[in-house]
Amino acid sequence: MLTLTGVGKRYPTGDRALTDIQLSLPKGQVMALIGPSGAGKSTLIRCVNRLVEPTQGSIRLEDVELTKLSGSRLRHARRSMGMIFQEYALVDRLSVMENVLSGQLGYVGFWRSFLRRYPQEAVAEAFRLLERVGLPHAIDKRADALSGGQRQRVGIARALLQSPKLLLVDEPTASLDPKTSRQIMRLIRELCAERELAAIINIHDVALAQQFADRIVGLRAGEIVFDGKPSELTSDILTTIYGEEDWDTTPEPADDDEDGEQVTHPAEPLRATQSHSVPRQSLLASGGAQ
Ligand SMILES: Nc1ncnc2c1ncn2[C@@H]1O[C@H](COP(=O)(O)OP(=O)(O)OP(=O)(O)O)[C@@H](O)[C@H]1O
Ligand SMILES: [Mg+2]
Repeated sequence: MLTLTGVGKRYPTGDRALTDIQLSLPKGQVMALIGPSGAGKSTLIRCVNRLVEPTQGSIRLEDVELTKLSGSRLRHARRSMGMIFQEYALVDRLSVMENVLSGQLGYVGFWRSFLRRYPQEAVAEAFRLLERVGLPHAIDKRADALSGGQRQRVGIARALLQSPKLLLVDEPTASLDPKTSRQIMRLIRELCAERELAAIINIHDVALAQQFADRIVGLRAGEIVFDGKPSELTSDILTTIYGEEDWDTTPEPADDDEDGEQVTHPAEPLRATQSHSVPRQSLLASGGAQ
């Protein structure tokens, strides 16, 4: 349903952020986009909704060529793409409900939205969505009174209110604790399945990407260097994407003692004698999608 053909982006500064991107995303597929900082992940997502203008290639959403749209046709096309950001992009002084309803901006027009007059069916749908994302009791709370995880749930509800076909998600878990990160990724995954939504999720956490995505695409310096199943992401492929690193181990504790004698930390006498034989936790997750 989404097809990128030969997409390239060179910023006016001369930075080449994307080169010859070929990508086809079927309906309902959750794709994680991984890669080092500066690889072009945000640029790719932003080219799709045209917050960034691609300098080469074609991007089609179903039968619409997105790169050629402008004005009202572009606004119309953007309604079929829900954006979810790392920083949640909520209006702090507005209530949860108002933040969700602001997702209707493309439909109800700026002034109606500014005056906070929303159609009844939008309000009813916002109630349903807030219940679905697990926030039925927070409707009247101000956005700045919410935790990071709750704010992200509001961001998800807002993105879904416009009934998109595609979700574009930029680092949804970057400021969340590990448990909340998993809950948010699980929620996005479930919602994609329920609504047959395709999603591109930029994410730095490789294990989370493996657990919750159907497909992983690895970007390096603006080029796709891996495109496959989560189970195919080996240490060698991580090295191709991110560069040389020992992916299966965590660093050995530094041994300052030149005679090779172990230094015992007073507070942790037991660990000092065991530390070299403790099993290392692998960066790579073993399971498939949950
Ligand atoms: N507005 C801009 N003007 C000029 N260059 C830019 C702009 N935005 C991004 N770039 C450059 O494009 C390249 C890709 O940046 P991008 O933000 O897409 O990377 P990213 O993979 O999302 O990184 P991160 O993981 O840090 O978010 C980088 O070299 C960056 O410096
Ligand atoms: Mg980014």
